[in-house]
Amino acid sequence: MNAEWQPDTLAAQLGHYIDPVTGGVIPPFQPSTTYARDAHYQLIQPQTEYSRDDNPTYPLAESLIAELEGGEDALLFASGMAGIASLFQTLDQGDRVAAPTRMYFGTVKWLTHFAQKRQIEINWFDPAIPGSLEAAIQPNIKLVWVENPANPTWDIIDIKAAAEAAHDVGAPLAVDSTVASPVLSQPLKLGADIVFHSATKYLNGHSDVMGGVLVSKEKNNRWEKIRFERHHAGAIMGTFETWLLLRGMRTMFVRVKHSSASAMAIARHFEKHPKLERVLYPGLASHPGHEVASRQMQDGFGGMLSILVKGDFQMAVEVAKRFKVFIPATSLGGVESLVEHRKTVEGPDSPTPDHLLRLSVGLENLDDLIADLEQSLQVV
Ligand SMILES: Cc1ncc(COP(=O)(O)O)c(C=O)c1O
Repeated sequence: MNAEWQPDTLAAQLGHYIDPVTGGVIPPFQPSTTYARDAHYQLIQPQTEYSRDDNPTYPLAESLIAELEGGEDALLFASGMAGIASLFQTLDQGDRVAAPTRMYFGTVKWLTHFAQKRQIEINWFDPAIPGSLEAAIQPNIKLVWVENPANPTWDIIDIKAAAEAAHDVGAPLAVDSTVASPVLSQPLKLGADIVFHSATKYLNGHSDVMGGVLVSKEKNNRWEKIRFERHHAGAIMGTFETWLLLRGMRTMFVRVKHSSASAMAIARHFEKHPKLERVLYPGLASHPGHEVASRQMQDGFGGMLSILVKGDFQMAVEVAKRFKVFIPATSLGGVESLVEHRKTVEGPDSPTPDHLLRLSVGLENLDDLIADLEQSLQVV
């Protein structure tokens, strides 16, 4: 990759990809799971033996993501959760980690279950409470995990400060940067050691690929353990999914910037709305994380925001039912806008407020999105 080019140039051209065999400007899709040897019993392409690690489509996507994040290496996984699991699998029984109580609920659920089974201790912290993260990072911590911005209230972690606190006790900092995407934030450049994305979201951007990616600042011992885990436990992304991901990443910068601009406009429009208690969006000066987010994000604050309707659980569901442009569905980061009543999905144990609706802002016309939200709120 040409390191002198801007990241959006690298992404648009997949690092100036030209197929060496045909001259095609789009990478070929090689579905083979196995690769033949020649008359000397040597692999025809070095390190292309069996597709659980070696499909020629993977390195193109992995090297682009590593370059965009400023890491030495990246690894693709079959889903975001498979990537998260591979990182936590590097811990030993009895290890202690620090993790937030508020983040993507699936991560809280899986981590709680995994930690119980593997006798791993968790120092939970509340990302909305100043000092909570620092208090959780005790000398015996082996890994600090954060999500930034954090679902579904978009709490902002000061990544530089978190990295310093983690490094003071010799622990690496891993950041789930799914919502920011590599377009808006590069946690490795702020001191983090590992960056994670659910590639299902903004990286692919079209709601048609499940995938995850870990990026490491260094190819160290921990990274080799993660690579071993992926190769032998087999949580690799499918080849076709990787090819679709490459296609999605070509437009990622335009998509993410457009979604962020629309989310900002929606947040501003509805901030003082009489039917709402509050709009949660780190781009608003009223958000507690705004100042830190302004420092560590560029080109926008992301396409995700939440609204707290005036009313209870049922009222929030009533509003959710009335949307006509926003699609009532889970997930985020696609070209289509989605609305979700998170408490319904997360269940009664979740700390998410009953009256919160999460919006993933896509690429539709902004006036249509604002009008849709206005008409849905009329029920309040
Ligand atoms: C912030 C965040 N991290 C991780 C995940 C898990 O990723 P996946 O659904 O691709 O397994 C999600 C999924 O919604 C997410 O939103």
